[in-house]
Amino acid sequence: MLVHVPDVLDASELALCREQLANAEWKDGKKTAGYQSAQVKHNGQLAEDDPLAHELGKLILDALARNPTFFAAALPRTIFPPLFNRYTGGEHFGMHVDNAIRYDRSRQPALPMRTDLSVTLFFADPDEYDGGELVIEDSYGAHRVKLPAGDLILYPGSSLHKVTPVTRGARTASFFWLQSLVRSDAQRRQLFELDVAIQSLTARVAGAPELVSLTGVYHNLLRAWSNV
Ligand code: NI
Repeated sequence: MLVHVPDVLDASELALCREQLANAEWKDGKKTAGYQSAQVKHNGQLAEDDPLAHELGKLILDALARNPTFFAAALPRTIFPPLFNRYTGGEHFGMHVDNAIRYDRSRQPALPMRTDLSVTLFFADPDEYDGGELVIEDSYGAHRVKLPAGDLILYPGSSLHKVTPVTRGARTASFFWLQSLVRSDAQRRQLFELDVAIQSLTARVAGAPELVSLTGVYHNLLRAWSNV
């Protein structure tokens, strides 16, 4: 399931991120890639221990914590500290799959986590650069994603994906992974659709007794399918 979450960052947060990242110290992105993906990865990235990555990462995690759509779609258990990348001057990232397990080295001892979901949060608007589409392949085919600044896309960590060459301007983004309370993408999708339907019904017929039953079904499915 691909989920577009709009307006994760407000205008002032976005402006702060963009200003700080314009003067950031970009390193070769191959440093954090696995063996296969390093062969096809051509971009710039902030070092994981760069203080700016910590500062902006915290801002992003705080924004996610107050976003109900993100929470409903991802059901996050553990979120990897956000990383930052930039593509410019023809840079791209060929087709690859993300590592299944990442180690959060900001914790001691390093905390292993399963990458159930991948996240890309865009800092540049689509008209600021050419190319730079995130292309995600799943059983329905290839999906081309290029979102407004401040929006994010959630997609299964299991999917093959690539970023097409940026032929004008610069594409700056944050990317990270999360381990979900619900490992199965199919089960997570059912929960999200049920949650969205319950929220919509609540807005139309608040107080309907069936809403109590449906909410019970939601929580009982979550109880059955989650790992905490
Ligand atoms: Ni990737």
